[in-house]
Amino acid sequence: MFTSFRSIRQILDGDFDGKQVKVKGWVYRKRTGKKVVFVVLRDATGIVQCTVKRDSLAWDEAQKVSIESSVKLSGTVREDKRAPGGFEISTSELTIVGLAEPFPITKDQSEEFRRDIRHLWLRSQKMNAVMRIRSEVLRFMHDFFRQKTFIEVSPPMFISSAVEGGSTLFGVKYFGRDLFLTQSAQLHLEVLIASLEKTYCIAPSFRAEKSRTIRHLTEYWHVEAEQAFATIDDIMKLEEELVSHVCQQVARYCKNELETLNVNAKKLAETQSPFLKITYDQAVQKLEELGYKITWGMDFGFEEEKALAKKFGKPFFVYAYPKKSKAFYCKTYENNPELVMSVDLIVPKIGELATGGSRIDDTEKLILSLQEFCLKEEDYEWYIDQRRYGTTPHGGFGIGVERLLAWMLNLESVMDTIPFPRTTRRYYP
Ligand code: 4AD
Ligand code: MG
Repeated sequence: MFTSFRSIRQILDGDFDGKQVKVKGWVYRKRTGKKVVFVVLRDATGIVQCTVKRDSLAWDEAQKVSIESSVKLSGTVREDKRAPGGFEISTSELTIVGLAEPFPITKDQSEEFRRDIRHLWLRSQKMNAVMRIRSEVLRFMHDFFRQKTFIEVSPPMFISSAVEGGSTLFGVKYFGRDLFLTQSAQLHLEVLIASLEKTYCIAPSFRAEKSRTIRHLTEYWHVEAEQAFATIDDIMKLEEELVSHVCQQVARYCKNELETLNVNAKKLAETQSPFLKITYDQAVQKLEELGYKITWGMDFGFEEEKALAKKFGKPFFVYAYPKKSKAFYCKTYENNPELVMSVDLIVPKIGELATGGSRIDDTEKLILSLQEFCLKEEDYEWYIDQRRYGTTPHGGFGIGVERLLAWMLNLESVMDTIPFPRTTRRYYP
């Protein structure tokens, strides 16, 4: 027999035409004829059709094998235009490794049902492609930050003071104390820039978000960056470059996966920096023109963001928000203390993709802002110290990995971008 197994991708790439190969994987589809059984085999890299003829040694096993059984088989590769992927394996031997019971997933079941049995649905071609792209997106982000000399850091998940407001904080009992699961690594990244200047992290964030929308999870992966001496313009530039870089790289290196997901790679590659930038006031005006009634001072909701995004049809920034619509740490404009240097990146269908901006860098102003937001100064002493000892202007942003993927891949929900989604109702499997 043969020593090494080949991946299905290698076979579809045409490297083994006419040659004997050994492959392993799971039965994706099966069709039985009088003289031949067609077994479509899948592995991590793709699917290939394998034919088993009546006179082959594999015939009896091919009769027995069921959908999703794991198998090893050997045979000869042949180019065949009619086969999916253009190649076929003419099977000489087939060994069943794990015979599968009747598989519960069939065609035409609802997304809801598929999410209920996510542990099995993860085997689908769709989820395989999404997970592969997700892995690549994370790699492209790491590449981007490292190329710009940002240092990756590992922030804590247990925290003692809120970052983004109390209503979405998850409490945890911690040896008799009340702590929280982090909503964002921002405050800890701000501490680290006094040592490293440019930092980033890719870590989970937790939100006790009651919202049941296509863009909310209770646990999501958050890419956050923070930079000393940066202005809000620097931050916008960093964000647009990151998002464009990821889109370009995915369009270039994930062609097969994009095809599986019916995503137009060319269109994805059209996402290029710089992005359009408008102020909050301009956004309000646009929304009023579209028939929305906006009370000045409110943050935009999903509906408003979607309406604006539909109008522009591509990613854009909204900046200079009213102070009360944003978090306690946002720095106000010198010429207008009503407005903060906070910026949202908004995209079609998903709405807000990222939030960032400049942070208050003055000790007194920060203490005042904590008071305005009814937060206890003593909980933030460590954070205020950052201003007391060699403060600098600085800023950063946070972008949700699942929202980015859902937008790029035109998926129905952020739930389809993460293997085991956590929402108010979903925590199994
Ligand atoms: O807008 P948010 O709350 O901003 C922050 O946490 C800042 N501290 C980030 C920073 O400046 N370092 O969250 C940032 C992003 C959102 O724009 C969104 O993409 C994502 O995190 N996000 C969620 N994704 C999925 N489910 C949720 N419940 C999310 N909440 C926020
Ligand atoms: Mg936000």
